[in-house]
Amino acid sequence: MKGHCVTRVEVAGLQQNAGTGGRYVTGIERPFPEDAIIVSRTDPEGVITHVNQALVDISGYCQQELLGQRHNLLRHPDMPSDVFAQMWQTIGQGRRWHGYLKNRCKDGSHYWVKATVMPNIRQGRLLGYTSVRKKPSRVKVDACEALYARMRVESHG
Ligand SMILES: Cc1cc2nc3c(=O)[nH]c(=O)nc-3n(C[C@H](O)[C@H](O)[C@H](O)COP(=O)(O)O)c2cc1C
Repeated sequence: MKGHCVTRVEVAGLQQNAGTGGRYVTGIERPFPEDAIIVSRTDPEGVITHVNQALVDISGYCQQELLGQRHNLLRHPDMPSDVFAQMWQTIGQGRRWHGYLKNRCKDGSHYWVKATVMPNIRQGRLLGYTSVRKKPSRVKVDACEALYARMRVESHG
């Protein structure tokens, strides 16, 4: 069907868990492809205006499902809010943010990225934001998994 994105989730009959606001997670990690670079861009309000094929491939969302949305579509419930608060504070000051993110795929699986998020500023005007994501090392992923778990406990403390 034209314009409709058929996914493995739909084929498996798990539509109720596959909505954009769904928090259903499987605990299954999708390996980040060697040498892949995942790119997306937003307008100044954080609305996604560009995604590359690598993001489509790993996230399980098709391009039409990503464009016009916000990046919290990709948020995994294991990610502490403080990480994003620091991200927005940094880019809001016109600086680049570097960090590790666990992102949720449409089918509830996840993938880890080493992310850089940067404001696109031309002649003093904010045009939007760009994120470039690369394969993280396993050592960093394990460290962040443990750190984020501690942060979640502390924030609910
Ligand atoms: C360019 C850009 C890329 C982003 N990439 C991600 C991402 O890959 N995963 C993610 O969870 N949030 C990403 N964010 C942060 C989200 O906008 C959002 O702050 C975060 O998902 C938490 O959302 P929530 O507080 O509404 O739950 C990105 C933000 C920007 C500006």
